[in-house]
Amino acid sequence: MNVWQARILHALEERKRTQGYRVRQVAEQNDHCLNFASNDYLGLARSPELIQAWQKGAELYGVGSGGSSHVTGYYEPLQQLENQLVKWLGYERAIVYSSGFSANQALIQLLIEKDDWIIADKLSHASLVEAAMNSEGSFKRFAHNDLDSLKRLLSKIEHDKAVLTITEGVFSMDGDEAPLQDIQISTQRNQNNWLMVDDAHGIGIHGKEGKGTCDQYGIHPDILIVTFGKALGVKGAAILCSDLVAEYLVQQSRALIYSTAIPPAQAYTLLKSIEIVQKADEQRQYLQDLILYFKTELKILGIENQSNSPIQPIIIGSNEESLRVSQVLKEHNIWAMAIRPPTVLANSARIRMTLNTNHTQENIDHVIGALRHAFGG
Ligand SMILES: Cc1ncc(COP(=O)(O)O)c(C=O)c1O
Repeated sequence: MNVWQARILHALEERKRTQGYRVRQVAEQNDHCLNFASNDYLGLARSPELIQAWQKGAELYGVGSGGSSHVTGYYEPLQQLENQLVKWLGYERAIVYSSGFSANQALIQLLIEKDDWIIADKLSHASLVEAAMNSEGSFKRFAHNDLDSLKRLLSKIEHDKAVLTITEGVFSMDGDEAPLQDIQISTQRNQNNWLMVDDAHGIGIHGKEGKGTCDQYGIHPDILIVTFGKALGVKGAAILCSDLVAEYLVQQSRALIYSTAIPPAQAYTLLKSIEIVQKADEQRQYLQDLILYFKTELKILGIENQSNSPIQPIIIGSNEESLRVSQVLKEHNIWAMAIRPPTVLANSARIRMTLNTNHTQENIDHVIGALRHAFGG
């Protein structure tokens, strides 16, 4: 066995030993199940209107962009998409990336230099944490949603340093929201402090016309990240920012310059998706009612959480037990994932249940019955 094999085998064995081994399932194998695992909160991923838009986009422009947006990839629908995002979300510019992961990496990698600081919420998404750890700046995390912890960290940094404070609108594994107004106030201590909010899970769900969690809280962070693979039902992401930052990205962002632009058919579909999302007030209200119903029923089971979003975690603790509960749900034809460390903190393994507009109260009653069974009630 060579050094590579020994190292890899050891890592895999370790995952197995701690019940953290991941197995991917072909989605169709769960077609008979109620899907409580997807981030497709508004049920748009299979919407006939979007499928039609994709087909039309493919006919008009093709399925591949043929190059980065600096070469052949900047098709009209992509330019229109950036303009539509600017208008919808109220920023000077929007730059589209192929994923939220790469948008977060790109932004942090480009902005942060030696002597700069990144101060991020402890539960920030892996894409943010990884980029911060790989950056040349200093990186510290504040306790989750804890303003005192944030202020303490900020107070130790000299005022002439560039500081990027990072949080999320809706946290991906807990579903709770950041206290955005207070965070914005704390970071406005001087103009060298920029606030970045990743609203991957809030866009389309919160705020007027689905503008997201920042709109709901009435704040305007310096950098806003939105992704298209969740409520918008498609895939991709955008960085919303000033003209200055956008030009910097266009000139120097390697993930933009050296990566193929999203297919024009995808951009065309996203134009339609945003249009649908903007008008989806009724669906958002339906989802909120469903969330409230689910939370109320969970409470009767003795399970409480802080989330008012479609992400409803059932925190269990041990990996083994969360796998067991997920299996019981599966036996009741419910697809919900056991999420284990390192995706979540140690000893906080959970079932991450996500609600969407395709669900009904009867579906939720079924889930509650299965959970009662799983917990021996
Ligand atoms: C908060 C957050 N940011 C970024 C991402 C990455 O987005 P994408 O799936 O578009 O790469 C995710 C995805 O799960 C997320 O939850």
